[in-house]
Amino acid sequence: MPELRFSPAALAEVKRLLAHYPADRKKSALLPVLHLAQNELGPHLSVPLMDYVAGLLEITPIEVYEVASFYTMFNTRPVGRFKLEPCRTGPCALNGAEDLIAYLEKKLGIRDGETTADGLFTLKSTECLGSCGSAPVMQIGEDYHENLTFAEVDRLLENLKQRAGR
Ligand code: FES
Repeated sequence: MPELRFSPAALAEVKRLLAHYPADRKKSALLPVLHLAQNELGPHLSVPLMDYVAGLLEITPIEVYEVASFYTMFNTRPVGRFKLEPCRTGPCALNGAEDLIAYLEKKLGIRDGETTADGLFTLKSTECLGSCGSAPVMQIGEDYHENLTFAEVDRLLENLKQRAGR
């Protein structure tokens, strides 16, 4: 396993973040540091990676596990190359989110929370993405896809497969 250690640039960013807080409140930087860890050393926050973050912030590992497992944007289990996050909350549910999730499950041959055997897609339904006016919505990476239809989902998946050379 490669050594879990931030690059010099990421370490500089951690230092910059910590400068916002008193020296005995390093935990305050936990969320942005977890984002850094997931982005640079992920794509998932393994136990050794969370332990590394705990060491950097001088907090206990359980304090990191609790936060990482609470927020859906953090992956505490391995994920595929593309993480599909359809919203399942009220307005999206009223606009077909349940059917959309069922459609994705059938199309990908996996259940919500699982990853396809080829490692390409992880389906992870999520709570409100804050774009309720354009429900149903799905986040893929940093992008939002709104007013989704089955046809649009087909198009998105095909584009992602092409991007991955499949
Ligand atoms: S309920 Fe889906 S974005 Fe708000």
